[in-house]
Order: sequence, then structure tokens, then C-alpha cells
Amino acid sequence: MMRTRPLKVALLGCGVVGSEVARIMATHADDLAARIGAPLELAGVAVRRPSKVREGIDPALITTDATALVKRGDIDVVVEVIGGIEPARTLITTAFEHGASVVSANKALLAEDGATLFAAAEKHGKDLYYEAAVAGAIPLLRPLRESLAGDKVNRVLGIVNGTTNFILDRMDSSGAGYSEALDEATALGYAEADPTADVEGFDAAAKAAILAGIAFHTRVRLDDVHREGLTEVTAADIASARRMGCTVKLLAICERAADGRSVTARVHPAMIPLSHPLASVREAYNAVFVEAEAAGQLMFYGPGAGGPPTASAVLGDLVAVCRNRLGGATGPGESAYTRLPVSSMAEVVTRYHISLDVADKPGVLAQVATVFAEHDVSIDTVRQQGRLDSEGLGGEASLVVVTHRAPDAALSGTVEALRKLDTVRGVASIMRVEGE
Ligand code: NDP
Ligand code: HSE
Repeated sequence: MMRTRPLKVALLGCGVVGSEVARIMATHADDLAARIGAPLELAGVAVRRPSKVREGIDPALITTDATALVKRGDIDVVVEVIGGIEPARTLITTAFEHGASVVSANKALLAEDGATLFAAAEKHGKDLYYEAAVAGAIPLLRPLRESLAGDKVNRVLGIVNGTTNFILDRMDSSGAGYSEALDEATALGYAEADPTADVEGFDAAAKAAILAGIAFHTRVRLDDVHREGLTEVTAADIASARRMGCTVKLLAICERAADGRSVTARVHPAMIPLSHPLASVREAYNAVFVEAEAAGQLMFYGPGAGGPPTASAVLGDLVAVCRNRLGGATGPGESAYTRLPVSSMAEVVTRYHISLDVADKPGVLAQVATVFAEHDVSIDTVRQQGRLDSEGLGGEASLVVVTHRAPDAALSGTVEALRKLDTVRGVASIMRVEGE
């Protein structure tokens, strides 16, 4: 049975994502109505610049007063695609207070203060859906929240930022410069309003916090996530990775400790073998591995950024929330009953690839090896290559050491001690190695 009275949708933001949400709502109106059981009506569109021409949108719907829009009282669903912390947070909580459910793509806000949003949704008996907040079009949060609700997830690992993957891919495959690749990603609508959120790893860290929270049924905030961006990654690192049969990716890794009593969440560049499935994730695509006790290893892959892919995830949530509303129900809310502490990066067990500039003379390798042994870090491989010094006379070498797995604190202590050796002229690069 199709209800004739439409469900009213308020769209907050009409940029890269919002404009695509409005377009799909208009072009697929009949199908969406049939799937939901009632037509959708775009009731208002809040923006910052009202005079901007917005193709396909009735100018009468445009407003700069987002607060008045969410307070109208007749809105069924608010779609928040403004981004940032404020005014988005207040608009979402106000929407709940005035009877609307909310669909959001705002990972920054969910990772910073998801607790406030979940509490407000629960208090007012409304839905808060946010599939688009992590990994663009890829259905990932719903499978974690619903399909894997009966299993025990132990690890989530993947590429969750399209912009940085696009940059690394361009640098690796076409030798493009960092700035040139970032400009291209921005022009394609992949980057955040402030692209430092992408390149400094904040965006991926926000997504890691959301993933860890859902996967481990606990609360993880942005500040709990160890974060390193890709601004320190050099062309030399990428070339060095190639020589090892690896490539460099910005990874998000969320893990339950072996004893099950704590979790970790981290984002950093890492070398992964070219044979690993993540190595072939190109451009702005994302891919995430989920390891669960009974299910084993699952891989989710698809477009991770951009207007249409993100709008697809938003529309999926919109349909789900509307169906719930018509059925007088709400979907699952936050499940954070385990209250597991988040351990620091120092406790994470990982591997390092360390490239040193050293004096090429007897005893240097032994000195370097001693430092590793003193920190209880086992060496996997060593590669040394002599090179000419500034006067073309030789006497210097590049030493590349790859370690076995060790606690991150031991590895960083090793690097600190290496820097103090007279024979170590410099530490050219340090990168973690994952995926083996
Ligand atoms: P844009 O910067 O392209 O769009 C933001 C929109 O919000 C614009 O329409 C802007 O208005 C409007 N806006 C900004 N401030 C206000 C305000 N105070 N009141 C009313 N409207 C306002 O961002 P995106 O569409 O790229 O991203 C939106 C959200 O989706 C963010 O949370 C982002 O993290 C998330 N996201 C984005 C993805 C992507 O690939 N781009 C992928 C996944 C999630 P105006 O048009 O007038 O400037
Ligand atoms: N800026 C984000 C990215 C958008 O590049 O992945 C998708 O969340």
C-alpha cells in the first residue's frame, strides 16, 4: 500500500554530496516511493550562499536559516551534509527535539561527539544513520552493526580515505607530485572542505574511531586514535617500498587485544606487499578487511569518496529511516556495552622499515645490530648499499633494516638510540610494515 502523504526531507548542505542527494531524490522519485511505501518530498535546502545556482533545485526551497528548517515540526528526516562540528551538532540535536530522524555523512562530528548525538536520538526515539560517514558508497557500517551482530569482530584493517589513496596512487604509478595529486583529488570532490583533514590523517582517524566503536561495541573517540598522516611520506619512501616489493598505503587498523581486555585504533602510512589485496586498491577506492571469530575474513571494496558514491550511501540510509518511520519503529542504536579501554600506540605490536645513512666502515653494522638487540627488537632483513659522499669519495652507505614484529615502544626506542650513534649520519625514513 502506497501512502499518498509524502515524507518530508530537509537537506542541510547542498555541496558535493548534498547536490547529488537532491538529484537522485528527484530522478528516482518513483522508485524510492515504491521502495519506501510513500513519496519523498524535498521540503527545504539549507546552504551558506543562497545566490549560488543549484541545478535541479527549486530556488524557493533554498534557505540560509538551517535552524528554522529543522525546527519546523513537519520534517520527517533531516539529511545533514554540511560537515564540521558546529552548527551540525546543534542542528542534529534540534532536529531530534522537533521530531525528525537524521541521516548524516559527518564522520568528524560522529568521532568527536557521537555520544551526544546517540543520546539525543535515543531520548527522542528517533533514528541516527550514518553509513556514508565511513568508506563512501561501501556498505560497511550496516554489515558491522547488523549482519555481524552475532559474531565477535577482532580486527578491522583497511584504506578508508579516498583522497590520500588517490595521492599515493598517483605518486606511485605516474610519479606525480604530492601537490598536483592533491589538487586533482580536490577538483574531483574527494577531499574535505579543509584537505588537511585528509592528508594529516584526521579524516581516516575519525573513520577508525567509528569503525572501532561499532566493531568492538565500545566507545572510541577521535582523540583515542593514534594518527599519522602522509605529509611525511617522500618519493624516496615510495621508491624504497618498490625495491622491497611493497607499496605505501595510509591504513586504518582497529584491533582487539589478544586477551580481549582492550582495543587499539591507529592510522598511519605503512608499506604493504604488492601481493596483498590492499596494494591493488587504486585511485579514490577504499577497501576494508573485517576479521571476525566465526565469519573469518571479509573484504569490503568500492568507491570511497565523491558525490554520487557518497549520495548512494546517504540514500540507502534515507530509505531505511523512512521505512522505520512508516513502520513506527527505529533501527538499532549505539551498542557500547563493553566499555573496553583504548590502549596507546606504544602497546601495538608492529614491524618497522628503517632506512639509515651510515658511515661505510668496519663495525658499523655490528653497532647498529647491537642497538636493535638492546631493545629486544629482532631484525628480519638488512640491505646495505655503498654510495659516494659529497666529495665523490665513498665512505657512506644506505642501510635498510626491516624488523620482525615488536611493541611500537621498543621500535621507537630503537630509532631514538640509533639517532645517537656517531656512525649514523641520519635516519632517512621510518615506516611500519603491515599485511604479512
Ligand atoms: P561541501 O563543502 O561540498 O558542501 C557543504 C555544504 O554545506 C555546502 O552546500 C554549504 O553551502 C553548506 N554549508 C556549510 N556551512 C553551512 C551552514 N552553516 N549552514 C547551512 N549550510 C552550510 O562538502 P561535502 O558535500 O563534500 O561534504 C559534506 C559532508 O559529507 C561532510 O561531513 C563530509 O565529511 C561528508 N562526506 C563527504 C564525502 C565526499 O566525498 N565529499 C564522502 C563522505 C562523507 P554552500 O553550498 O552555500 O557553500
Ligand atoms: N575526504 C574523504 C576521503 C571523503 O577522501 O575519503 C570520503 O569520506
